[in-house]
Amino acid sequence: MADTGKLAGRVALVTGGGGAIGGAICRLYAREGAKVLVADLRANEAQAVAGDIGDAARACELDVSDPAQGSAAVAAAVEAFGALHILVNVAAAVTPDAPVESLALEDWNKAFAVNLTGPFLMSKFAVPEIRKAGGGAIVNIASQLGTIGVPNRSAYCTTKAGILHFTTILAAEVAKDNIRVNSISPGVIQTPRTLRRFETVEAFQASRGPLHMLGRVGQPEEVAKAALFLASNDASFTTATDILVDGGYIYLKRQPETRH
Ligand SMILES: NC(=O)c1ccc[n+]([C@@H]2O[C@H](COP(=O)([O-])OP(=O)(O)OC[C@H]3O[C@@H](n4cnc5c(N)ncnc54)[C@H](O)[C@@H]3O)[C@@H](O)[C@H]2O)c1
Repeated sequence: MADTGKLAGRVALVTGGGGAIGGAICRLYAREGAKVLVADLRANEAQAVAGDIGDAARACELDVSDPAQGSAAVAAAVEAFGALHILVNVAAAVTPDAPVESLALEDWNKAFAVNLTGPFLMSKFAVPEIRKAGGGAIVNIASQLGTIGVPNRSAYCTTKAGILHFTTILAAEVAKDNIRVNSISPGVIQTPRTLRRFETVEAFQASRGPLHMLGRVGQPEEVAKAALFLASNDASFTTATDILVDGGYIYLKRQPETRH
């Protein structure tokens, strides 16, 4: 029953909520009793997720790199549901793969504007509201590639490394307000975006699965479960940390000699 869920009485704003992982988080949060503002650059996708959820959700068009839109989204969550307790920063920009010497400055800047400035702006506007509500949680979706950088993806990997550091600093700043701030580093997750380079799901699994200790890629719902933990009272003593939902990707990459 939703009203006895782990997030009963809580209000969440999820950026990138129209995407695969963001959508899974919105749906799980709503199932656990939260009211959810589904915010995304792609208004139609946000609307689709909110429509699936029903009365517990609203949709909002949002470019997280635009301060006016970020501020308006926080205000919209409070207007719709009366308060804000949880911010989940999921939105990320897709930029072309290229080595540093040929990466366009505008692609570098776009990755930073969305992946790092976006969570900064959303946190900046959300913290006063979460404080006003008596506390809550911020969850940032980082990446295994924030720890294990890969060639040709310097902008993405660097922003994801940055979000890990940003998370701990913000956590220290707002701990006194009963606001916990944590991140999640997923491994390769099966989404339309990660699948698009492959002809079939089987080909995707065969290529990306072995990068993980568990021998398979992850599903959006597996990331959402960690995001539920971090947003709920189950994580009441957890702040300033990163949870790996990476099937052992980082450990395997760091210790390849342990592979048998
Ligand atoms: N899929 C993976 O394998 C994987 C692995 C590690 C980390 N991640 C991270 O998980 C998160 C979600 O990824 P996903 O795979 O669900 O991707 P996705 O493309 O399905 O979702 C990303 C969403 O962000 C939205 N978005 C893009 N720019 C935006 C902006 N400026 N303002 C607001 N919304 C914007 C997109 O419209 C999209 O709906 C991202 O932060 C990504 O970096 C994904």
